[in-house]
Amino acid sequence: MVDSLYREIILDHYRNPRNKGTLDPADYSYEDTNPLCGDEVRIDLQVADNHVAAIRFSGRGCAVSQASASILTEMVEGKSLDDVKALTKDDLLEELGIPVSPARLKCALLGLKVLKAGIYGVDQTEDDL
Ligand code: FES
Repeated sequence: MVDSLYREIILDHYRNPRNKGTLDPADYSYEDTNPLCGDEVRIDLQVADNHVAAIRFSGRGCAVSQASASILTEMVEGKSLDDVKALTKDDLLEELGIPVSPARLKCALLGLKVLKAGIYGVDQTEDDL
């Protein structure tokens, strides 16, 4: 029951993504692919006063990777860069709300990987998140 509610949330974000698009200019931009399947996520950020003033994501791929990126943009909008850096994969997985199998973990974490790589300026692995 609870599981199906969260599945609905993921499908809703997949069908009606929040903060979809690009920002030009952007203070931080990064994109990456899941090497296993080729799915893509790009994230653009505008920062003001050390806080996320605007965030957009774009890309294509499975429901989990795209919905997770959409949910992530809602989580970080308005947050300080320090708070964004402190976000963990568990924070995001908790927000997704459904058990993510090891095979889908890369899908679920692609957006967070891209976001952190953009802010830190270096590639991130799942272990860094
Ligand atoms: Fe490619 Fe999920 S199948 S990111």
